[in-house]
Amino acid sequence: MDKQVGFAAPDGCYIDGAWVSSSSGCCFSSINPATGEVLGEIPSLGASETHAAIEAASRALVDWRSRTASERGQFLRLFGDKLGEHCEDLAHLLTIEQGKPLSESRGEVSYAQSFLYWFAEEGLRLYGDVIPSHTKDARLLALKQGVGVCALITPWNFPYAMITRKLGAALAAGCTAIVKPAEQTPLCALALARLGEEAGFPRGVFNVVTGDAATIGGAFMASDVVRKVSFTGSTEVGKLLIAQSAATVKKLSLELGGHAPFIVCEDADVDAAVEGAMISKFRNSGQTCVCANRFYIHESLYDSFAERFGAKIAKLKVGNGLSSDTQLGPLIDMAAVEKSARHVKDAKEKGAKILFGGASADAGKQFFQPTLLGEVDPSMRILQEETFGPVAPLIRFSSYEDVIKQANDTPYGLAAYFYSRDVGRIFSLADGLDYGMVVANSGVSSTACAPFGGVKHSGYGREGSKYGILEYVDIKYLMIGGLASNKDGQ
Ligand code: SIN
Repeated sequence: MDKQVGFAAPDGCYIDGAWVSSSSGCCFSSINPATGEVLGEIPSLGASETHAAIEAASRALVDWRSRTASERGQFLRLFGDKLGEHCEDLAHLLTIEQGKPLSESRGEVSYAQSFLYWFAEEGLRLYGDVIPSHTKDARLLALKQGVGVCALITPWNFPYAMITRKLGAALAAGCTAIVKPAEQTPLCALALARLGEEAGFPRGVFNVVTGDAATIGGAFMASDVVRKVSFTGSTEVGKLLIAQSAATVKKLSLELGGHAPFIVCEDADVDAAVEGAMISKFRNSGQTCVCANRFYIHESLYDSFAERFGAKIAKLKVGNGLSSDTQLGPLIDMAAVEKSARHVKDAKEKGAKILFGGASADAGKQFFQPTLLGEVDPSMRILQEETFGPVAPLIRFSSYEDVIKQANDTPYGLAAYFYSRDVGRIFSLADGLDYGMVVANSGVSSTACAPFGGVKHSGYGREGSKYGILEYVDIKYLMIGGLASNKDGQ
């Protein structure tokens, strides 16, 4: 087992194939959310190092985009193999830096790997078109060409998979990239940089810079060399990036906040719905953009669903993710704990019933009990905002028209879930729900082969799937004229 992978404090950030420290000497700490232990001191880079990374990516672009898709795919596959070889170390690092239970961390390593393998193949299929010409003496082609240098700004909740989901697509399309990971999970990103280095990518093809988001993001947004920014994070920051992108007319992909409804129809298989609710709500302690945030239960089975869901929740084992029996780890920081507590308090004050949990958990100060709230109504904050924590509010409904209206009554539109065994109802709910991802009869739908992304204030662009790579290409129209005269002349 290689104990060095990303865990020993790295010698710096990864720029132009070298490990570079901060010129100012500034650092920030990576902290284990379960214990408060400092895991390492990480360089806090400034604008000058960010510009150096952009320049490195720009120099590397000339060679990288001229390679065949097959060559680029071989690098991505090798990178993916490295993740597999170091799965246990990477999972351990992820658990201590981000908090999720080891079993989920192992799952994330293979999820991250799947994007590298997927895009290694997808690069081979980046077909263009031959367009029937408007004139006899010309041929018209539409070519897909990588957009150029990309900045990839990634979140802390899936610090491996959100990097590879963006980076795999960018590199496969012939772009070069600079990754800026969240300040909470820099070690995970630097571990990937080390494995990318081992995979032998040419220098500058991808770079990782750590530090203050506003400084580094500001340098990306102001640069004319950076042609594309892909961001996963809050809607608030996403809107700021949209405004900042205007000056350089940058291409953007934004995967922003969610507020997912989870609807259980009267014809649903209740046990299956409870299983789906458990995974959809409590994956990563409720800290995914696609976590169910509000549960609309048909009045005919509200009581049996609440009882069975409550019984499962009561059995969840909360603790340090390194313990083999832990199912729910800590939240990322105190602000996250306070938000869950605030949503519970507000709901309780407005008449909701606490069916289970509702307070901080004994495991440590950043742990919150898995919580079930009954008789929740739209006046409560939890039905208006994303909680990003392990709190499940239940709402009764009787009319499908009304439940679709309530589910859509939000600025967000990322993921929506429902359980039904009626084919007609499945299609009418799927049509009515205004979301980028609609999931029937499952609590989790994320996979490399399907398009991930939202509508409305949840952002735009898609990641993964055959669509994800298209976010990193421009269409170049090539017209070849004068062909008839050439033919005459032969
Ligand atoms: C996210 O929360 O942004 C990603 C979740 C996923 O890929 O399933």
